[in-house]
Parts: sequence; C-alpha cells; structure tokens
Amino acid sequence: MEPDNQFPLEIEDVEPGLTKKLLEYFTGEMTGFVRVGPKKYFFPQKYKQEAANIYNMPIRPTDVFVTSYPRSGTTWTQELVWMVANDLDYEKSSSIPLTERYPFLEFSICVHPENKKKFIEENSDSKDKLELLEMVCQPGTEQLANTPSPRFIKSHMPLSLLPPSLLDTAKMVYVARDPRDVVVSFYHLNRLMRTQGYVGDFKTFWDFFRKGLHHWTPFFEHLKEAWEKRDHPNMLFLFYEELSRDLPASVRRVAKFFDKQFTDDQIDLLCKHLSIDNFKNNKSVNYDVMKVLGILVPGEQSFIRKGKAGGWRDYFDDEMTQQAEKWIEDNLRDTDLRFPHMQH
Ligand code: A3P
Repeated sequence: MEPDNQFPLEIEDVEPGLTKKLLEYFTGEMTGFVRVGPKKYFFPQKYKQEAANIYNMPIRPTDVFVTSYPRSGTTWTQELVWMVANDLDYEKSSSIPLTERYPFLEFSICVHPENKKKFIEENSDSKDKLELLEMVCQPGTEQLANTPSPRFIKSHMPLSLLPPSLLDTAKMVYVARDPRDVVVSFYHLNRLMRTQGYVGDFKTFWDFFRKGLHHWTPFFEHLKEAWEKRDHPNMLFLFYEELSRDLPASVRRVAKFFDKQFTDDQIDLLCKHLSIDNFKNNKSVNYDVMKVLGILVPGEQSFIRKGKAGGWRDYFDDEMTQQAEKWIEDNLRDTDLRFPHMQH
C-alpha cells in the first residue's frame, strides 16, 4: 500500500461457520464477508480492495454527495438534489441516466469477479453493453478521478469510512428512513439484484439485517454518524417520511441548502417530475441500465417499487413487530435521533 493510501481501521474476515451460512443465502457473493472498525460495518470481502482508496479519495469543494443506508430514498433524493443544483435542467436529466450523473462510489465491491465474468459473457454480443458494464463495475474512485467538476456522488458508506475531510470540503445530503420499511425494500432488492442473489425468506433477512449481518449495517450506527453532523453547514439531513408527507417543503429545504430560488410553479413542476408514478416510467432514473445488462432477476419487484411509507406492516408478524420496537428503542437510547413520523 502507498504510504499516503493508509486505512486506519481494522478489517476482519467474518468467521468461517457464519460465512458458509451467509453464502448459502446470498448467492451473489462467492468468497465471504468482512467487518470493519469498532462499529463492525459489514461488507462483502471485496471491500478490502477499496477501503483505502475510498477513505483517501481526493475531495473537491464542488462535490455533492448523496448518502444513505440503502433503500432509504437515495434515488429520489439524488434526482431532487441534481435538479435543484442544476437549475432544473429537465433536458439533461432525461437524456443522461442517473447512474451516469452519479457514479456509485462503492458498487464495485458488490460485483464478485465470478459474477462479472458471467455478465461479460452474457453481454459479449454488444460493444455498447460491454462498455456500459465496465462503467457500472469500475471502482467509483477510478471513475470519479476522471469526472469533471461538479461531481455528484452516490454512496451508502457511513461517514467514518469516507474521507475525514469530506464535510469540511464538500456538500452532503443524507437521507434516512424507518428501518422497517428499509428492510422490506432491501429484501426485495436483494432478491432482484444478481449481485446479491438472496434466496431466503423475509424473516431470515430481517434477522440478518437487525443483527448487523448485511451490507452497510449496523443500520443505526450509520444513521447516528450522519445525525451527529446534521448541524454542519455542509450537511443536509432528510427523512424519507418527510419527503413523502410534504415534498414541496423538502424541495425548499434542498433549494435553500444549495442557495437556489424557485417559484411555486417551478416547485410544483419538480414535485410532479419526482412523483413515484413518473419515476417508474422514467428510464433515466429507474435503473433501466441494470435491466439492459441482465443484472436483474426477471419476475422480481422493480428497483423503483411501491414508494410508500409504512408498508412494512404487511410483512411483519407480531413477533417481528415486537422485535423491531425493542430494537429501535434500544438503539435510540443513547442519541437524540428521532424519526419524525414515529411516536417515541
Ligand atoms: P420501496 O421499495 O419501499 O418502494 P433507494 O433509492 O435508496 O434504493 O430507495 C428505494 C426506495 O425508494 C424504494 O422503496 C423506492 O420505491 C422508493 N422510491 C424511489 N423513488 C421514489 C419516488 N419518486 N417517490 C417515492 N418513493 C420512491
């Protein structure tokens, strides 16, 4: 490792017995998993290759990060932020897919080399698709080094695994969501994406999630790290439930954060653009590229799915509901983080 590319935290392999069990459930990973640092952030083993590159990536003052725990409304927030920061450029937004406008910093750690080989074989009839595949699978740090400013960056990394100078240099919008809706949505995504290839039931997935045995967990540590910085002038902390309840108000907050002024009509139009029905049919934001490349399992629910707050009730039985209540209560005890829609 280069002397200036150090990573200060310990990365330990997940123990063999647990690895064996997890590999049976997550068929998109073939080697194993790691836990990182004192909070034990959980990742596929390929994180080892990227940890230092991500931690030491040069940050530019014009960078805009949209970060979250997965399935918290990242895509929705990305498009909202991009539109505001780019003075409502509908033409560019519809002609350049969100995946190109926002390199996904750490997606490459989810693409196991065996899967990549398979994807290349399957797309070998088209040069365009192979190029697209290479772009999607390329480490975000490499891609971003060649991206002109201003850069828009998607990441699910917790703050402690991102460059320490980030918030004092660039802007970040973080979005959080009720973990019960997150876990339902993430369960579907883990079935949908061949890079994850989850083959178990929902209850088992919920167990992995709340026990910190799934990518980017522990969930609450992730949120708390961002929440602690919510008053930093370069941090805007949003909740999915707030976007859901009053999107125009959230648009105004984002506009203020980026020092932009819009008329009520412009805000109305943007809210229509950002509606779930529009998103489902908008190829620029609905991860059509993953479908084109065959990375999605046919027959599973789509990347942009229901788009509702509170849908978890259809998935949780009484036992899981109680587990969730206790888990949330236990994890909120040492923080003033509160979900705006919950009765705490
Ligand atoms: P559901 O699976 O509950 O429907 P992320 O972008 O972080 O992966 O989050 C995905 C979640 O946000 C999914 O939740 C998805 O349907 C929802 N979502 C995406 N676009 C949305 C929109 N325009 N309005 C409301 N929800 C949206």
